[in-house]
Parts: sequence; C-alpha cells; structure tokens
Amino acid sequence: MQFRSLAAGCGTYLPARVVTNAELAKTVDTSDEWIRQRTGICERRFAAEGELTSAMGTRAAQGALDMAQTTAGEVDLIVCATSTPDETFPSTATRIQAQLGMERGVAFDVQAVCSGFVYALSIADNYLRLGQATTALVIGAETFSRILDWEDRSTCVLFGDGAGAIVLKAVEATGAEREPGVLSTHLYSDGRHHDALYVDGGPSSTGTVGHLRMEGREVFRHAVVRMSEAIDAALEANGLTPGDIDWLVPHQANLRIIEAMARRLNLPQDRVVVSVDRHANTSAASIPLALHEALKDGRVQRGDLIMMEAMGGGFTWGSALLRW
Ligand code: ACO
Repeated sequence: MQFRSLAAGCGTYLPARVVTNAELAKTVDTSDEWIRQRTGICERRFAAEGELTSAMGTRAAQGALDMAQTTAGEVDLIVCATSTPDETFPSTATRIQAQLGMERGVAFDVQAVCSGFVYALSIADNYLRLGQATTALVIGAETFSRILDWEDRSTCVLFGDGAGAIVLKAVEATGAEREPGVLSTHLYSDGRHHDALYVDGGPSSTGTVGHLRMEGREVFRHAVVRMSEAIDAALEANGLTPGDIDWLVPHQANLRIIEAMARRLNLPQDRVVVSVDRHANTSAASIPLALHEALKDGRVQRGDLIMMEAMGGGFTWGSALLRW
C-alpha cells in the first residue's frame, strides 16, 4: 500500500507574558516606531522563569492531538524542531514524549533553526510514506528569549517564545486529485553562511550556551531569493502555479520579507497568514503558530492548498506544500 501524510490536527502554546515594543524600549536603546517599521513586530511573548521548551511543546502537542481526536498512545513518532532545547541532551522530543505519558515510539530533535519546522515535517512525512510510523507529532518549540544578547539592539527586539505542533497520520494514497496531505517538501542548506547567523557558544566550543549573533542585512538579502527558489521547486514538482496556492503560511521573521515573498508569487496579502506582529520571530514555532490562527478563525478550510516556507541559520531553507 502507498501512504501519504494527512494533517489531522494543529495546536499551539504561547507563554502568558506579553512584551510590547514600548516595554522593551524601557531597557533597550530602541523605539516602537523603529521595530514596527523595520519588522512589523508590535509585541512578543516571553516564557516565564522555569517555563521550558519541552513544557510549551507538550502543551502545543496536546492541542494538536485534541484537534485530531487522537490519543498520545497512538503516536509512534515525535520530531521536535528546536534550537533552544531544555538541555544539551537528552532531546526535548523525549522529554515531550514522557510528559505526554507515552510509553513507546521514536522521539528525536531536529536542529535547523528557523527552518526547523519544515525540516521536521519533511522527516515525519518520509517516515509515514515509508510505513515506518503511523501517527506523528511534528513540533516546533522555542525559548529564544534565553539566548538573546540584551546589549545587541539589532537582534534582541526580533524574537519571541512559543510552540506549535501538528499531527500527521499515514493514510492510503489513492492518487485521486486534490487528496489532502503533504504533497512535497524541499530542503536545502549551505554551511558557508555560518557567520551570518549563529549562536556564539555550545558544548564543544565554549561549554556555554552563548548568544544569538546575526548580520541582519545579509540574512535578509538571501532570505527572499532562497525561499523563492524553494517555492518554485515545490510548484514545479507538483505541476502547479502560484495561482493554485490558497494560503502562504511563511516563517514569521519580518513583515517586509513576508510581503516581498507574496509579491514574487503575485499573491494578494489577504492570502498570506501573518502573525509576526504579535509573536515576533519564534523560529521553528512560527509556521504552526501562524497556521493554527488561520485554522481557528476559519480562513484555512479542508482541501485548501498551503505553501509553507522558511529560512534560518546554517543557512538552511525549504518549503512544504500541504493540502489541509
Ligand atoms: N532600534 C533602533 N535602531 C536600531 C535597532 C533597534 N532595535 N537595531 C538597529 N538599529 C539601527 C542600527 O544601529 C543602524 O543605525 P545606523 O544607521 O546609525 O548605523 C540602523 O538602525 C539600520 O540598521 P540595519 O541593521 O541596517 O537595519 P535594517 O534595515 O537592515 O533592519 C533587520 C534590520 C530588521 C534586522 C533586518 O535586516 C532584517 O529583518 N533582517 C532579516 C533577519 C531576520 O529576520 N532574521 C531572522 C532569522 S532568519 C530568518 O528567519 C529569515
């Protein structure tokens, strides 16, 4: 039997604490106006002390399971995308596995920074297609507030904390037109761009966690080009055109990048799901956070074609095409 991966549910978790640009401007040499103009960000959420990536991931996963009317006991694969794990090891995915009360399955983390969710989705989709798992949780969970340098105003205003998850189920692929499920994923990386976006610490280099460092302009320059290439590859692989896309659910890094992507696709802005204004850049969590909003308010309906794209440190980038 041929399998495909059906998206059965989506859940999210946002920490309670809202931090507005104005609040940041009290301690950082910045302004609400600068942040809004350059990024579209108005506020973000920060995790409370002791609130860990795994706890947020577990809440998002539970929400996705509820929507999918699926129990944790049915899950046999967890792929958690995070660059801010609870600990160096074991993986945040295994901590989530335990917190969900699971006693079986495979759980591991994926580290592709802001592209993490697309990477995790791709891996889970391949497991399901190959019949190596039947029910997967794909999670993006981050506490970037813990790795920000509050002395660096060009980066510390850009990020937030949160988590999102989807449940994928292996179902029979009949080959019928407009079958719901993951149509394709396209992943890329180019390690020569390390210096444009990295964290200056880690177990084997400094023995510390380190802080996020970014050459914003360099990342911006690459982001639109690379993500457009990934989208083109997805459309070509499926014999589709930009006009077939119902929703663009992009990684939420910067409103200007998102708008540039929509313009390149000739997609009206009301077909683009935006949550960066309220969440800032939540790295691997940003796509499911945005998707969940559009599902909850009824914009995304069963059968709609969703294009996801992301780019992050590495560089890594990619796209995923999903019929909800
Ligand atoms: N508040 C006030 N002024 C600031 C701030 C701040 N928070 N940060 C920088 N500035 C100042 C700079 O010091 C500089 O001042 P100067 O001209 O006197 O030297 C001026 O603003 C312009 O700085 P730039 O860095 O050139 O500003 P730019 O227009 O490039 O915007 C930004 C910076 C928002 C980071 C942009 O480059 C960007 O969004 N890049 C994409 C990076 C990104 O989103 N990465 C996320 C991870 S990867 C991804 O997801 C795509």
